[in-house]
Amino acid sequence: MSTDQGHAFEAVIVAGGFGTRLLPLTTRRPKHLLEVAGVPFLEHQLARLAEAGATHVVLATSYHAELFEPVLGDGSRWGLRISYVLEDEPLGTGGAIRNVAGALAEDPEAPVVVLNGDVLSGHDLRAQLADFARPREGRPVDVSLHLVEVEDARAFGCVPTDPAGRVTDFVEKSDDPVTNQINAGCYVFRRSVIDTIPAGRVVSVERETFPGLVAAGHVVVGFVETAYWRDVGTPAALVAASAELVRGDGASPATPPVEGTGTAARWVSPDAQVAAGAVVEDGATVGAGARVEDGAVISGSVVMPGAVVGAGAMVRGSVVGPRARVAPGAVLEAVTVGDGAEVAAETLLEPGARVDCPA
Ligand code: GDD
Ligand code: MG
Repeated sequence: MSTDQGHAFEAVIVAGGFGTRLLPLTTRRPKHLLEVAGVPFLEHQLARLAEAGATHVVLATSYHAELFEPVLGDGSRWGLRISYVLEDEPLGTGGAIRNVAGALAEDPEAPVVVLNGDVLSGHDLRAQLADFARPREGRPVDVSLHLVEVEDARAFGCVPTDPAGRVTDFVEKSDDPVTNQINAGCYVFRRSVIDTIPAGRVVSVERETFPGLVAAGHVVVGFVETAYWRDVGTPAALVAASAELVRGDGASPATPPVEGTGTAARWVSPDAQVAAGAVVEDGATVGAGARVEDGAVISGSVVMPGAVVGAGAMVRGSVVGPRARVAPGAVLEAVTVGDGAEVAAETLLEPGARVDCPA
């Protein structure tokens, strides 16, 4: 917990999306609560916000909204306070931010940190806040956007900047990206700017608010920092992020203590059973109540709570959902198995395959 009031701030996490790209894992729960490196994803963000000095975090939820509070509680575990604000109908990213304004303190000049609820980032949030606090040509900053470079920018918001770091445009998801510099999903808003977002209707911060602020000459700045960064919105990215955290290739204050290092690193819940003749390696995790039988190999994968991986099965780069069963001898490479789904014995699944939950 931060005791330094100079750095105390409020934050919003937008966590109401459907997580469509993670189906079937998101049929019964929001992506924000899927286990990554042994803990529900949002715990990584909450721990990081607390470390940077957040005192109050507002969760903007919609899809499966009722599932958040039982898992995350009142925030006291991280020395902060969590408020939950529910949208009956999803209001989009901008609408979600506007909808929580009433839960924030009223100081119009205060910085408010906003996170996309599916991003893992090692960038220096305090440095972004300090940069936000620096006026540009005598004017206070309205919004600061954390920006990173990626090889393929098509799935992201492209954000060109001028030599002084001012954002010159914001183009969400285009087939022909104008730059590889993208929106990394961590914003600092001046509190009063949030009130300018229209209330009570669907607003996309990416397609409406940011382009509008830039076009109207508001002070929107980029904070470019290339640290560890990942959007965990697809099965491949979720598995990669989890393994990276366990192997220590990415850092999060919420990652539990792991066994081994490098390709031998793994995290096994104290409540899981792993047979002596099974191998769990390369950043793989095995959640509470899960069972891995003799001769099975789990490599760089996420085995969620209550799942069973049968004898001699091979699971690489895959997610085995809660209470799913992978029968003996099955081979899974880059496969996503939904809640309670079953993979028959000796099955060989194609990379990218998804096994649905039973009806
Ligand atoms: N409360 C609420 N209501 N949250 C929402 C809603 C809504 O209607 N719609 C989306 N969200 C949340 C999602 O749950 C997620 O945490 C976040 O907003 C971003 O939505 P995604 O669906 O994950 O967007 P994306 O990954 O395609 O693109 C976004 O993130 C990229 C970086 O990872 C955009 O912000 C891009 O510009 C950005 O580059
Ligand atoms: Mg995303």
